[in-house]
Order: sequence, then structure tokens, then C-alpha cells
Amino acid sequence: MTTEATMRKLTAEDPETRSADVLASNIEQLKTLFPEAVTEGRIDFDVLKQLLGGAVDGREEKYGLNWHGKRRARQLALTPSNGTLRPCPEDSVDWDTTQNLMIEGDNLEVLKLLQKSYAGRVKLIYIDPPYNTGKDFVYPDKYDDNLSTYLRYTGQVSDEGFKTSSNTEASGRFHTNWLNMMYPRLKLAKALLSRDGLIFISIDDGEVGSLREICDDVFGEECLICQFVWIKKRKGSHLSDTHRSMTEYVLAYARTKEGLALYGEGAYSDKLQPLVKKTNTVKELCFPACTVTTTLDDGEYAAGDRGEGESRLKFLTPFAVADGAIAGALQVSGPFVWTQAKLNAEMALGTSVHLSSRFGFNVGRHDQAEKFKAPSSLIDKAGTNEDAYEELASLFGVERVFAFAKPVSLIRYLVQTVTNSVRSGIVLDFFAGSGTTAHAVASLNVADGGNRRFILVQLPQRLDPDEAEHRVAAEFCAGLRKPLNVAEITKERLRRAAKKIKTESPMFAGDLGFRVFKLDSSNIREWDPDRNNLPASLEESVDHLKANRTEADILYELLLKLGLDLCVPIEKKRLSGKDVHSVGGGVLIVCLADEITRDQVGPLAEGIVAWHEALAPAGDTTCVFRDSAFADDVAKTNLAAILEQHGLANVRSL
Ligand SMILES: C[S@@+](CC[C@H](N)C(=O)[O-])C[C@H]1O[C@@H](n2cnc3c(N)ncnc32)[C@H](O)[C@@H]1O
Repeated sequence: MTTEATMRKLTAEDPETRSADVLASNIEQLKTLFPEAVTEGRIDFDVLKQLLGGAVDGREEKYGLNWHGKRRARQLALTPSNGTLRPCPEDSVDWDTTQNLMIEGDNLEVLKLLQKSYAGRVKLIYIDPPYNTGKDFVYPDKYDDNLSTYLRYTGQVSDEGFKTSSNTEASGRFHTNWLNMMYPRLKLAKALLSRDGLIFISIDDGEVGSLREICDDVFGEECLICQFVWIKKRKGSHLSDTHRSMTEYVLAYARTKEGLALYGEGAYSDKLQPLVKKTNTVKELCFPACTVTTTLDDGEYAAGDRGEGESRLKFLTPFAVADGAIAGALQVSGPFVWTQAKLNAEMALGTSVHLSSRFGFNVGRHDQAEKFKAPSSLIDKAGTNEDAYEELASLFGVERVFAFAKPVSLIRYLVQTVTNSVRSGIVLDFFAGSGTTAHAVASLNVADGGNRRFILVQLPQRLDPDEAEHRVAAEFCAGLRKPLNVAEITKERLRRAAKKIKTESPMFAGDLGFRVFKLDSSNIREWDPDRNNLPASLEESVDHLKANRTEADILYELLLKLGLDLCVPIEKKRLSGKDVHSVGGGVLIVCLADEITRDQVGPLAEGIVAWHEALAPAGDTTCVFRDSAFADDVAKTNLAAILEQHGLANVRSL
């Protein structure tokens, strides 16, 4: 047995144990672009300036929005989080199968924690932040310790002296507070978007000017798609002395300029139709030569089953892709909408068919370019606030549970404009409120058989039964015997919306569940030291997994810190008397048993090796054990050595 094998203990300094380090990744990107300007990990500004020539702006007074705290707000986005997300299956629906997430927590911390797993993977973000009307609550970020602020706010640790109140115009920092809250969140949100992704932000007259400026700063003014005007009311409100406010805005930005161009392609057009419908009987269709364009990579494709869920297709003959087109005839069997005769007639009229590569083989009819309809800058038929009011009242059976909801149809329209052609992708809303975005995603999936996923983030904002605008919601939560906070309303909305959809569309077999996670401090003491009592905190870290946390808590923290999707399947097996978990089909193997004796090392390692072989994961596997489980270093080294002999070289302990 080799003695060189080691089980590396993950420490607080390890990049593997932290949320994404945005600063380090920025430097890495600079290094790739300008290697000459980076020496020994530091930037040489003089060299960088030379490389950028006349594009450098050295003037003192610059164009753009500045406010007190901007520098700090930027820094806030760069500081890693020392929190985690704890799974909460008891609040969830269809925990084992769902791909949707509902996360309770302050969205700044949560956006940081999601970076490793979801950076560059989100297709669409919709947010409807507090509009800063002078009456709404603006979350008070604390630069030096945002997570403890949160834990105090939510009452998870003593909250002496911690006050929350609305951001009032009298505060003297009215716009500043709001901008400081929005800016770091938008920066983190951008990093989550895919290159063809986009963000929609609802806002009213009050902050639209400054929001547009910070979005120009964060996303680039060249990535602005449109400042859509949404007709929000059928009847005029009289809140202002100067005018009746009938509209508000939806600012839309693309993540990249390429994404901007793609927006048109996926844009809403009632002529663009899927050619596959889950409920149809299976037919065989022959697509004549040169009629199918595709986003599949160039190459040879074998016959066989492709696609996911409902849109599963069987390719009856092999085919080749070159330059985004399939040259030969394509024979496919699947639940098609058209017959062969209809297909032939359409082809004769010049209709082309597009085979998407995004999520399996979805075949959709692409309308002729000249019939393409880009979305109007006026959104006038996508529901109003009155609709939202009625929708919620009918779902909850009581009025005014949540005051500022958007109508399902508005968000559904926005989601459709982006995901119409692919009918898939992750939709994120990190100011979830009553959860309308999730409802909109589910209802769109029902309508077109898509499999879009959602991620919601909502603060468990306290509901005070003594405050007029909270009273109904607080009573509602109390009636459910739930804590009095807004996140409980969000989850209840999702449950009720799912039930309604099931009743109305009993044939729908798509995903109506959601996994609940809650923001908390790390499960690992060393990664979350008590700043006020460092010596004691270090002593306790002999077994540095916190005593009141479960194996599942630790397992999901590993998923987050190693950058795995929070919905990947996890299997559990008993191997020589120990619980062992395989995550994502063997990408991560975790055993958190309290004790592993020298005698148990051999059988346990062999069990893991055999399971790993059976799973045959595509990439490298990381194995993780509890550091304090081993009687001594010999046991640890032996285990690492056996695993290494069988190709499992990434072995870690906690
Ligand atoms: C205007 S509402 C969103 C309404 C939503 N579009 C709907 O249709 O129900 C804004 C929500 O953001 C939440 N929020 C405010 N600050 C937050 C923060 N720091 N983290 C997470 N949620 C926050 C508020 O609790 C509120 O529910």
C-alpha cells in the first residue's frame, strides 16, 4: 500500500469551502486578457493603462451616477458569504423529484451562495424590488457582518437593539439607501445569467432614473433591450396630485450583446409553435432533406432515443449536422402535432423546422422571418394590478394577504418572450414576494409542455399583526400555525397554485414541486468562527461540525461549496455499517459517520470503490469524510490510499 496518499482536510482558507471568490475570478479574467499586466497575482496598473491606450479615462469628473457608499456597495458584492443553505424537506413539495427551489433568506447572501452552482446558468431573471416609495422596507445590509445581521433580523440569534423600519424620505439617505441595497445584488445577479440570458426589473417613476443608471453601469448601456411601459391599471389611481398613474416600467437588459441579438429570435410570436405535444399519439414523420435547421454541434448522430420527459423522440435513422443544418432526410417518431401530409404542405409553403440542442431534441416550427413579431415597448394586454389582486384573493380565499403582487399573466408574458423557442431554462426571482414568478413559470409549462425551472428567494420578512398592512397576512400565517413572515406566504402560494393547476389540468405531468432551503450560518465552525471568542471557537473546532446540524445540512453545504446543482439526485447506501451518500451519480461521495475504526477502513473503502465503479460518473469524483471519525492518521491514510489505488484521488475531510 502506498503511503503517499493523503486525505486533505478542508480548512477555512480553502477556496473549496467558501462561496465563490468574485475578486479572484475578476483577476483571473484580467490575467487571461492581459497576462503582461499581472505579475505574481498583482495588477500592474501602468502596464494595463499602456495596453488600453486612449480608452483609459483619467479625468476626475466622470459621466455616470455616483452616490455615497457606491464603493462600499461594490465591495459588498465581492465579500464572500460564510453562510449556507439548510434543506427543509418538511416545507417542500415533491422533494425527491422537483427541480425548483424556494430559498428563504436575504437575497444578497443567497446570491453569493448560489454563485458556484449557478453562475452563467440562469436564462432569465425577473425582479420586482421594493420601489422605495418612502413607505416600504429596504433591507439594511451591514458591510462588516451581513450574515449575523440577518440572523438577528430573523430572530435566530438574540436581536437586542436591532430595529427594522421603512426607508423614509426624512432619513436624509433616501435614494442612497436604496441604491446601496440594489447595486451589489444586481452585480451578483449578472454573474448568474447565461451569456444569452436576460434580466427584467419592474420599477415605477420614483427610482426608474437611478435604476436605469445603475443598470447601465452593471450591464452596460449597449445591453439595454427596452424600457417597457406596462399598463398597470384599468382604473386610474389618485395617489398623486399631478397625474393619474396608470403605468410603470419593466427595464430589460441582456447579459451580453450576443444575447441582445438572440432576444429577437425567442421573442413572443403567436405564430411560433412547438411541433411536439406530450398528449398526442406517437407518429412517424419524415422531414425532407434540407428542411431542418439546428443548434446541434456539427457532427454525426446515431439513431436512438433523445430528449427529456414528454418530448422524448426516437430518431429512426442516423444523420449528420453541418453548419447548423441537416442535409439528409430525417425520420423521427414522437408525439407530433402534424401529420405527414400537413408537414409536406407546410414545407411546400416554405416553412422551416428547427431542432433545438438545448434540452434534448425539441422540434419546433420556426415561423417565416417576415412574420416575426418583436415585442412592443408597450405592454398593454398582460394583466393589471387588479388582476393580481383578484388572483391572490381567489387563491387564498381572503383579500389583502399580499399587497404588491404582479399578475401571473405579466410575468408569464415576459418569460415567454425569452424562452418561447426552447421552453426550458432556469428562471430566477430574488424578490419573490407572493411567488407570482413561480406560478407564471408553472402555468406556461402547462400551456406549452415546457420544462422551465424556477428559483425564488424571499426574505422571511416579519409580519407584525399590529401593523395595518400586515394584519391579514399575519393572521393567515397564525391560522396555518406557521411563523409570521412573508416567506410562509410565498410557500403557501406555491402549494395552492400547484393544487389549482392540477385540478384544472389533470393530465399535466410536469414539475409542480419545490425544494425549500433556508439561509443560516455555516455548518462548519471553522468556516464560521465566533469573531468575539476566537480561542474558544478554535478549541471547539476539534470536531468542527456544529452539533445541532444534520448530515443533510452538511451534505447540501458541500454541494453549494463544490458548485453542484441543489437539485441533483442524492442516493444513500449502507456500506459496512456506515451511511454513504452519492451525489449527482457519483460526482461526490460523502460519508459523515462519527466513527471509522482501523478495522472498518478496508471494507468501507472497498464498498465505496465498488459503488463508484457501478455508478461510473463522467467526471472526477471527490470523496469527503468527517475528520474526527478516524481514530488516528494511519486509518485516514489507509483509506485515502485504497481509494487512490482505484482512481479516487480527491479525498477530503471536514
Ligand atoms: C414588491 S415585492 C415582490 C412582489 C412579487 N413580484 C409578487 O408578485 O408577489 C418585493 C419583495 O421583496 C422582498 N425583499 C425585500 N428585501 C429583500 C431581501 N434583502 N432579500 C429577499 N427578499 C427581499 C420583500 O419582502 C417583498 O416581499
